[in-house]
Amino acid sequence: MSSPSSASTAASAPEPTPASSSTPVPAASGASAASSASEAVVVRGVERVFPGAKGATVTALTGIDLVVHAGEFVSLIGPSGCGKSTLLRLIADLDTPTSGEIRVFGKTAKQARIDQSYGIAFQQAGLLPWRTVSANIELPLQLHGIGAAERRARVAELVELVGLTDFATHYPDQLSGGMQQRVAIARSLAEQPRLLLMDEPFGALDEMTRERMQTELLRIRAETGAAVVFVTHSIPEAVYLSDRVVVMSPRPGRITDEVDVRLGDAAERGEDLREDAAFFAGVTAVREALHGPASAPATGSARGVDVR
Ligand SMILES: Nc1ncnc2c1ncn2[C@@H]1O[C@H](COP(=O)(O)OP(=O)(O)OP(=O)(O)O)[C@@H](O)[C@H]1O
Ligand SMILES: [Mg+2]
Repeated sequence: MSSPSSASTAASAPEPTPASSSTPVPAASGASAASSASEAVVVRGVERVFPGAKGATVTALTGIDLVVHAGEFVSLIGPSGCGKSTLLRLIADLDTPTSGEIRVFGKTAKQARIDQSYGIAFQQAGLLPWRTVSANIELPLQLHGIGAAERRARVAELVELVGLTDFATHYPDQLSGGMQQRVAIARSLAEQPRLLLMDEPFGALDEMTRERMQTELLRIRAETGAAVVFVTHSIPEAVYLSDRVVVMSPRPGRITDEVDVRLGDAAERGEDLREDAAFFAGVTAVREALHGPASAPATGSARGVDVR
């Protein structure tokens, strides 16, 4: 396993290396970890085979073993078509594995969905255009029969959390793309999930907005303590946000490497970290895991992965 751990001492926030971490971190493969409720996600031996054209099949995922601990931020990275979205959809019970098992906080994926154990934010914000910012964020609470007073208080809190207090009565088409994403993130947090599933949530944003959203996500995550499974094409994004980056290869999609990237406390991870030696060491470690050690930055074989 690659690791930038030697350089992590240069991080602005003091953080133990993975080996000396005080938090319990079981084996990286996670396959042997118990499926207890203290783990946000446990995926064991999962395979997903889709029917293809003329009776052929497409093995989107095979032999997937992954554990995401409570409060941990894990990114999935890999070339287009390697099965990242499929894996996230399986965890969210929007699809079912062909074989293998998935647990979310010790429950089946289906039970976790019924219990609203997680929030989801995907690439498109998916807001209802006829509802205001507040009303969009309020929707999951309404659907689950939360009383009006409690809803109002919670929505006010969430609107503030994502910095949209002045826009609470605006409609989605009156907002920028980044603001719409923030509404979607607030909505995904409405029921205080201990797990967030995010599929390229910042993919459509310009670089500056994207970096600001990343910093905000770190702040929100620090405040809520939620575990996050985050799909991205961007190595720097994965490194900046994650405790661990899971690297996947295509056809059939499998996990080929995991890189521990502990750049410091999420709450203290400021913008200057993007120019820190530990950050670059993390980017190099993930890039090498994706392309192999000898690869040049801009000519990797992993199509669809942004190495800059
Ligand atoms: N519903 C489906 N029916 C048939 N094949 C599917 C279906 N969903 C996904 N696939 C196939 O599974 C493979 C993985 O797709 P997936 O969307 O998970 O990739 P991805 O890693 O998210 O790619 P990208 O980075 O481009 O979003 C692809 O070969 C895709 O064609
Ligand atoms: Mg995808």
